[in-house]
Amino acid sequence: MSTSRENWSSKLGVILAVAGSAVGLGNFLRFPVQAATNGGGTFIIPYLIAFLILGIPLSWIEWTLGRYAGILRHGTSPSAYDKIIDRPWGKYLGSLGLLPPLFIICYYVFIESWILAFAWYSLTGKLMAVVQAGEITQFFGNFISLQEKIGSIPAAIFFFAITFICNMVVILLGVRKGIERANKISMPILVIMGIILVIRVLTLPDISHGLAFMWNPDFSALLNPKIWLAAAGQVFFTMSLGMGIVFCYASYTKRHDDIALSSLSAGSANAFAEIILGGTIVIPLAVIVIGSNIEECAKMGTFGLAFQSMPLVFGKLPLGSLFMTIWFTMLFIAGVTSAISIIQPLISFCEDDLKISHKNSVLTVGTVSLIGGIIAIAGLAAGAVEELDFWGGSFFLVVLGAVQALIFTIILGKKRHRRDSIGFELLNDGSAIRLPKFFRIIIRFVCPAALILLLVAWIVHDGW
Ligand code: PHE
Repeated sequence: MSTSRENWSSKLGVILAVAGSAVGLGNFLRFPVQAATNGGGTFIIPYLIAFLILGIPLSWIEWTLGRYAGILRHGTSPSAYDKIIDRPWGKYLGSLGLLPPLFIICYYVFIESWILAFAWYSLTGKLMAVVQAGEITQFFGNFISLQEKIGSIPAAIFFFAITFICNMVVILLGVRKGIERANKISMPILVIMGIILVIRVLTLPDISHGLAFMWNPDFSALLNPKIWLAAAGQVFFTMSLGMGIVFCYASYTKRHDDIALSSLSAGSANAFAEIILGGTIVIPLAVIVIGSNIEECAKMGTFGLAFQSMPLVFGKLPLGSLFMTIWFTMLFIAGVTSAISIIQPLISFCEDDLKISHKNSVLTVGTVSLIGGIIAIAGLAAGAVEELDFWGGSFFLVVLGAVQALIFTIILGKKRHRRDSIGFELLNDGSAIRLPKFFRIIIRFVCPAALILLLVAWIVHDGW
């Protein structure tokens, strides 16, 4: 049995790790499509409102529960809820918290590996040649159906193996030497690459047309409930809320570490990467370089945009291979820092709850995600990835966010025979900022009401 749980070595370390988890494919691919198809510039209004009344409060809640769980020496909800709720059903409710990481990890590493492959093909000039021959769609199809080879090995399997090993090595090195260090090195590189791409976009002729396409407000869209649902869904996804990630990472903070300010810092860094980087690169580029329109961008979906439209776009720019390489490397970094964050809760569950050694936990989680991944990819054509993404990446996040909000406001600390939950006290403990009063009202009333509304609207709308 392990004797001590690890801790982050610094405040910056945990902020970067949470930001690294949050900044992912959601920022660079999901956000631009959501914004462009849901009112353009107007989308930012529901987005910021959802950020304020759901994103920030729920991330405070998750950080608080996570740090508290860490004191109890647990990094995931099954045992933590068992202790916090102190009822026989607590651990069953907590067990639901393992579903999003389990679902998401099954397909995420595969997509991450496609990105690595495309970064490699960009660097070697192969992708440019494919684009110039007008064969990008076919190439992508061949790649994912294992027909593209490196030597005699299917390239998709080769890159998957490298990506898988990369993730597992970081995880094996542990919280400080692995996750924290990886984020400290890669996040600044990601930001620099993002800024280079933004500068490239902004210095293109006629870029104002591309930006206007993305950001022109259409205020009548605010009357459409769909854009509010889309904004709330995006905030959940992009801030990695309800996935057990923030909970697990926060469990490695120390008892009196500042969590209120750290949570705000990580959330703001993610919003910057989403709005400024994500909002400037993909759609404006696709619009002015290859003349796409919003319908086309939306139809391409995340994969089409990343693996087909963007190579086409860069193929038309001077120094295209260079920018293509920067684009895919940046996405790969974003992918790795998110992938390790979704693996760690499973590791922590094995270590803290099942009392398995670190090495064996890595082995167990590696095997499970490998088997799950193979099943998911075998079912790729049958829509398995969409299905997993829907359940693990959408539905459960909102349900689990609601559960966390209820535990924070009503249950936490009750077994100490107190009338009120001690949630706010714990959140403020060690914090450099005092929580403004109106945020207490938002957390207590507005946030739960918004979550219930969201769930009802979502069920009525049959998905986001
Ligand atoms: N916040 C991540 C993103 O924007 C979501 C995510 C985290 C997905 C971890 C998978 C794993 O892409």
